[in-house]
Amino acid sequence: MGFKNIIERFAVNYAHNTMQKSLYNGLNIDILDQKYVKTPRENTEYMLYAHVPFCHTFCPYCSFHKYHYEQELAKIYFENLRQEMRQVKAAGFDFGSLYVGGGTTLINEPELEKTLVLAKELFNIKNVSCESDPNHIQPENLKRFQGLIDRLSVGVQSFDDETLKRVARYEKFGSSEALQEKLKKALGVLPVMSLDLIFNLPNQTKEQLLNDIKIAKSIAPEQITFYPLMKSPLTRDAIAKSLGVADSDNEREFYEIICESFSDYHQSNAWAFGRDSANLRDEYVGSHHEYVGVGSGAFSFLNGELVINAFNLLDYGRRVKNGESPVIAKCGFTKKERLKYIFLTELFDGGVNIAKYDEFNGANIKKELFAELNLLKLVGAIHEEGGRIVPTGFGRYLCLVLMRDFYAGMDKVRAIFKDDAKIKRSKILRIMSEETHADFEDALISPRAAV
Ligand SMILES: C[S@@+](CC[C@H](N)C(=O)[O-])C[C@H]1O[C@@H](n2cnc3c(N)ncnc32)[C@H](O)[C@@H]1O
Ligand code: SF4
Repeated sequence: MGFKNIIERFAVNYAHNTMQKSLYNGLNIDILDQKYVKTPRENTEYMLYAHVPFCHTFCPYCSFHKYHYEQELAKIYFENLRQEMRQVKAAGFDFGSLYVGGGTTLINEPELEKTLVLAKELFNIKNVSCESDPNHIQPENLKRFQGLIDRLSVGVQSFDDETLKRVARYEKFGSSEALQEKLKKALGVLPVMSLDLIFNLPNQTKEQLLNDIKIAKSIAPEQITFYPLMKSPLTRDAIAKSLGVADSDNEREFYEIICESFSDYHQSNAWAFGRDSANLRDEYVGSHHEYVGVGSGAFSFLNGELVINAFNLLDYGRRVKNGESPVIAKCGFTKKERLKYIFLTELFDGGVNIAKYDEFNGANIKKELFAELNLLKLVGAIHEEGGRIVPTGFGRYLCLVLMRDFYAGMDKVRAIFKDDAKIKRSKILRIMSEETHADFEDALISPRAAV
């Protein structure tokens, strides 16, 4: 293994461990006894996130907060969601964009439609993104959302029949061929369609990955996202049971294949590729530093704090109906942690404009992140050009590692609050101290991986 490889492996491992530590030590979760009201600050742009926590059936790798779909329950939930939006409006917020995530956001079309219409009435929303599974994208159904949804991301995960069978999506959403048909038909109904795929699944071969890329490109949607498989204490066992355990970690190699295969696309962030640069982004985190989350289990990031809504559906509904705040906990960060988080999300999005960063954060990045910037330069992850800090190819991979660790950390927060109306501190400590990506670390330091 060459010197460059050793340095890069060291850098990846170091970054991963640092993220783990700051997620464990830094997440000072504070269970709130008194009422917390989300309040806007002057001259701050916010994004609105709305959570739809329902699916017909669950997939083994997915840790997003969700319940089995029941029509009556969902109707009540959507009413509460709209009520919370009104509360947020009354508190003085406005938003230019809305991201509806799930779950399966299109699971009850009339309710979603009502919710989007209300959001547009209440706020100056210009862009709306939604997520769906492949069973809700028939052109005749999507048409009702013309003018309401600008970007629809559809979960494909893989075009390999064997993989689809293992994660129990073959029977639910169809074979690879059937999926391709559905996607082609849905294309063009809404302005942007994005396909979501997952790579580095246990035992996924290079051929399978290349085939996924080839098929996704042949469908020619406006955007394609390749997420690295994220594992957390919530999903680790279910992933091993359905897909097996990997005997090597191909994340870096596969990521390079993906970036190379999409060199004719515009890279919108470390894991999303657009056919042209005008398309919307895939992530709500990267594009706005501050956002308000509405719905059960939704996170907000406000005034440098992570703010957590009640997960339990009954608790959430009761609070909203009584005009109370649905916030049950929050978690503060030091200024340094906030600076690092914003730096990471901007680098993940393609680069940091130094002057803007300093102005927005009232900071001097070169002073305050002196050690971090020098380390990243030393390992060849970033360079400076025209007042911007931009990631190199390796830097983009590093961003991907850090971002998936960040998401896995959020999974720990979900694991703490999942379904409990009363949270005990011992549960927080137990979950926060669990290792998130142990097998990834093993792969990095094992002699096999070092060959
Ligand atoms: C919240 S899900 C909603 C998708 C939609 N319900 C479906 O099943 O098609 C959004 C996307 O996150 C990605 N995702 C979910 N779990 C993941 C994991 N463990 N690792 C990587 N990506 C994941 C999948 O690509 C998924 O389509
Ligand atoms: S991937 Fe989609 S359908 Fe599967 S459990 Fe997650 S949100 Fe539900």
